[in-house]
Amino acid sequence: MTTRLDDIGACVFDAYGTLFDVHSATARCRARLGDKADRLSETWRRKQLEYTWLRTLMGRFEDFWRVTGEALDYALASFEIDDPAVRSELMQLYLSLDAYRDVAPTLERLKAAKQKLAILSNGTMSMLVAATKSAGLGGVFDEIVSVEPLGLYKPHPNVYQSAVDRLGVPANRICFVSANGWDVAGGATFGFRAVWLNRTRQPREPLPGAVAAELAGLDGLPALVGA
Ligand code: LAC
Repeated sequence: MTTRLDDIGACVFDAYGTLFDVHSATARCRARLGDKADRLSETWRRKQLEYTWLRTLMGRFEDFWRVTGEALDYALASFEIDDPAVRSELMQLYLSLDAYRDVAPTLERLKAAKQKLAILSNGTMSMLVAATKSAGLGGVFDEIVSVEPLGLYKPHPNVYQSAVDRLGVPANRICFVSANGWDVAGGATFGFRAVWLNRTRQPREPLPGAVAAELAGLDGLPALVGA
């Protein structure tokens, strides 16, 4: 049993891994990548995140499109794939990742219940607009908030503050949903009511910040926020 979260003024979603399946790009290239596809995808994602953290710590921001490309370069090199056409195809596929199946119906239900909906993501605005459009989620969000103008990546607190500023809803009335445990910790320590979408039954991250609720699928969210 999860306790209901009362008085929520907005639901704010992480994008990659939460709404969009980051592994769907390599999955669509499986014929060319063979048995390296899954491991390549894992390395690509892990390096992508590491580079965002490292660049933020070093004060050397580059946008998420570039970081995603550099992480892919590392992943391709580590699997000894030297094929510019594969690189280019995977990058293009990152603009049209699959949305998880429970995303559209859940967002529709929340919207029908007049919940304010937003994305807060490391992605560039053009990546996020492309991904939402391609997934048929074009008109669903009230706001799409990218870290781009800040020049910092999650989990820097200023990133979470930018959602508060944009939405005009205080942190403790924001239900922040992420499938990334470290992002949930970042949102929770900032002051959001942070919901961990734990699709694959991962263990809890021993990081600071109290998780307000844990869901196995996004379809549990409307009941959680009383929508
Ligand atoms: C994002 C990364 C964390 O969308 O997946 O912000």
